[in-house]
Amino acid sequence: MRILSIETSCDETAIALVEGEEKPSVVFNLVSSQIELHKITQGIVPEVAARAQLEAILPMISEAKKLGASAQNIDAIAVTYAPGLVGSLIVGVEGAKTLGALWQKPVYGIHHLEGHIYAAFAQMKSKEIHFPVLALVVSGGHTELVLMKKHFHYEIIGSTRDDAAGEAFDKIARLIGLGYPGGPAISQAALKHKETKKSAQLNLPRPMLTDKSLDFSFSGLKTAVLYKVPEEGLNPAQVHEYAHETERAIIDVLVGKTRQALHKNFVSTLILAGGVSANKLLRREIKKLRSEFPIEVIIPPFDYTTDNAAMIGLAAWHRLALAELPSADFKVMPRLKLSDINKS
Ligand code: KG4
Ligand code: ZN
Repeated sequence: MRILSIETSCDETAIALVEGEEKPSVVFNLVSSQIELHKITQGIVPEVAARAQLEAILPMISEAKKLGASAQNIDAIAVTYAPGLVGSLIVGVEGAKTLGALWQKPVYGIHHLEGHIYAAFAQMKSKEIHFPVLALVVSGGHTELVLMKKHFHYEIIGSTRDDAAGEAFDKIARLIGLGYPGGPAISQAALKHKETKKSAQLNLPRPMLTDKSLDFSFSGLKTAVLYKVPEEGLNPAQVHEYAHETERAIIDVLVGKTRQALHKNFVSTLILAGGVSANKLLRREIKKLRSEFPIEVIIPPFDYTTDNAAMIGLAAWHRLALAELPSADFKVMPRLKLSDINKS
């Protein structure tokens, strides 16, 4: 089975080829990023992102063809149809549908977050995944604890009430004078922080950490930074200190809530998913939960953490392998929740 997959839900134009009979493997995974463009505005302007998607999609399809994708050697096309920025999603969906019509291949719609989750199952047979699975999905647009009792069935047991974790990284990075995207910028700056007697007094809040619900909230953290940053701005050592404390605060909350979810639910496998799962400290802290609970912890390979098309191909591969066909009659759904795709 060979699946060509396309992902354009936000600011990356990505195309990948996933193949395999017993288990999936990624043949290529190409990503054209708009990071340089959004550095200028220090964040994504949807109209700008959609136009850039339009410019990138045909060159990306040409690259995929150069690497061997053709009507003869693929069986299906998979594309992200939800959720995301409407203008960006349309480019990928219409591109995939056009290619499917020309090459006479079925085209399947995949939910972006299902893609992030199944990125953790790269190179695993569908039957090797042990349920129940708990997924901590952390990206620029989402922060969710998702319980899966079986394949393709999602129960959202916790989610953010305001900003997503990635959004908090991005917004706080802007407040302390670091670039876009904020996640990698903050974690690099945090590494330069040197603990002194004067430092470690920032004491940023860990919102909702002791609250009984499994929900998150990050806007208070952003506001706390806003009020603490002095009017004259920060010197480099202070920037490192703010970055260090911000990263710690966000990760303390993510790990703390995941721990609470594990106490409340019987789980065999814990996975980390979404762009923020590129964060090395978070990866380390989540892995440590293995010593507290009898669980297997799976962290996606770095290349499949931030938005990419391999993850969409991997989700489609597992669906086709288990004959749980993804939607073939679909249109762009910018706000569709993950639990909305459960079979009733
Ligand atoms: O999944 P993703 O690529 O796009 C969305 O679906 O939103 O996630 C992007 C988010 C951004 O907010 C970015 O700052 C964050 O992931 N991110 C990170 C790191 N790399 C990317 N956050 C923390 N640490 C990182 N190393
Ligand atoms: Zn994403």
